[in-house]
Amino acid sequence: MDVFILIMKLFCCVLLLTTTSAATNNCPSAKCSLFSPDIRFPFRIQGRQPLQCSVPGFDLFCRQNTTMIHMPSYGDLVVRSISYDARRLSLLDPKTCVYEVFLNLDLSLTPFSYYYAVEQYKYINCSAQIVGSSERVPCLSGSDHHVYIVESSFPVPVSCSVVRTVAIPFSYSPYLSADSSFGLGFTWKLVEEEATCSGRMLGILCSSTRRLQKYFKGN
Ligand SMILES: *[C@@H]1O[C@H](CO)[C@@H](O)[C@H](O)[C@H]1NC(C)=O
Ligand SMILES: *[C@@H]1O[C@H](CO)[C@@H](O)[C@H](O)[C@H]1NC(C)=O
Repeated sequence: MDVFILIMKLFCCVLLLTTTSAATNNCPSAKCSLFSPDIRFPFRIQGRQPLQCSVPGFDLFCRQNTTMIHMPSYGDLVVRSISYDARRLSLLDPKTCVYEVFLNLDLSLTPFSYYYAVEQYKYINCSAQIVGSSERVPCLSGSDHHVYIVESSFPVPVSCSVVRTVAIPFSYSPYLSADSSFGLGFTWKLVEEEATCSGRMLGILCSSTRRLQKYFKGN
């Protein structure tokens, strides 16, 4: 009996691998426009590529020939490029304020983590300018408020309140911040579900890549 189960499991896994690669092979790549990135597994363009060509959470869409991704806690970002080998998704903020993206993004709601190592930084919002080494973040500041990104140990001046402490890849620097994509890169990890495949459930579980592929979080 045990041998039978073992054989069924082996058979199942062989089938699993074949269905997985077959499903991926039947997924032609797509792009939003001629010079847009090639979209393929684990991503897909909603409405243009079949559901089984992707993993949940990896859905993209086209807006005016531009490839976009919706970030649950922030909004829509532009997909600049995807490196499938390096597992890097490079993005651009259409509102051209990556530090606002860093402030509001909650990647725990997504399959992604930052491509670059992150560190805790404190966003502070001040009624008067701080004199010293910190540079205010122009896209978050106004005539009567000044936002700075400081190390988490930085003593908060009385004219400032803490907006939030967040783990972000880069602190603000006027030299690095000319473009709207600096540091805005994500990575992802996928695993295939294991050991849930038994002979009995073969037909259901081995039929779809989308069911078998999952992502996991971790660094
Ligand atoms: C999108 O691309 C098509 C074909 O290249 C072009 O005709 C159309 O004007 C473009 N639309 C926008 C909004 O750029
Ligand atoms: C900073 O404070 C100003 C004025 O109180 C407010 O309008 C603005 O939204 C605040 N900015 C952030 C990033 O919290």
